[in-house]
Amino acid sequence: MGQLTGRRALVVAGAAGIGRACVERFAAEGAKVVFSDIHRANGVALEKALREAGHEAWFLESDAGVADQVRALVEQAIGLMGGIDLLLNNAGIAVSKDFLDLTDEDFDRTVNVNLKSAYVASQAVARHMLASGTRGTITSMSSVNAVLNIPNLLTYNITKGGLNQLTRNLAIRLAPHGIRVNAIGPGTILTELVKKTIYTSDAAKAAVMSRTPMGRAGDVAEIASIAVFLASEASSYVTGQVIYADGGRLPLNYTV
Ligand SMILES: NC(=O)c1ccc[n+]([C@@H]2O[C@H](COP(=O)([O-])OP(=O)(O)OC[C@H]3O[C@@H](n4cnc5c(N)ncnc54)[C@H](O)[C@@H]3O)[C@@H](O)[C@H]2O)c1
Repeated sequence: MGQLTGRRALVVAGAAGIGRACVERFAAEGAKVVFSDIHRANGVALEKALREAGHEAWFLESDAGVADQVRALVEQAIGLMGGIDLLLNNAGIAVSKDFLDLTDEDFDRTVNVNLKSAYVASQAVARHMLASGTRGTITSMSSVNAVLNIPNLLTYNITKGGLNQLTRNLAIRLAPHGIRVNAIGPGTILTELVKKTIYTSDAAKAAVMSRTPMGRAGDVAEIASIAVFLASEASSYVTGQVIYADGGRLPLNYTV
């Protein structure tokens, strides 16, 4: 028996990186999984691989930055699996620019993909859970940058801070209904996102490692295992929390 046997999971933005690792672990733990992404080829390939391995998995192409598409995704996932027990809000993009150069479009797109998608999906899923009496979980992918700042990632930082507050607010609102709401705050996990926005030079890598007491980047599997924990009965009394997995970055005062 897996830790998620019989559960029905929806992973928003799950065709690559951390989301993909979570989709794979959820399936391996016995859950049915619907996952979305804007990258069709990656999504179709992952769906095929999961099905060949004997899992029940569906890929749906959907843009997390468009609220109506997110609502339609939730409806389709409910239709395919008969309901949703576990929601993972994983969509996240980063616009790397100086504050003075940011456009309204940069701001709106980051907020829509990173924060509004989680709000919209959580609302649609919570309505479904309440109507169906489902005691489920909602987990969002936050970041250490919810509380720290990378100066050129302003819109990213504020959306992750917003996700932490969304998490705490929904945890309180939904606790009486047996729905637990938590977030994960990864440090530096070696994915395409990090290669594009953080690991842009050897000097940048060295700077990241100088602020990472464990001296290495994290692996996507190390985040997926927390997602399984938060979605499973192992965390049955945990709600409203952000679990940071950052190799020791947050406790470090790097001025000394
Ligand atoms: N990698 C890290 O170090 C790190 C650290 C902290 C938080 N996070 C968060 O983890 C999450 C996943 O990050 P990652 O590093 O795996 O990113 P990634 O860029 O490697 O993968 C992201 C996936 O999301 C998809 N995607 C992008 N925009 C989308 C949209 N509008 N709608 C649907 N799908 C979309 C991409 O196609 C891709 O499959 C994000 O929320 C990110 O902010 C990552």
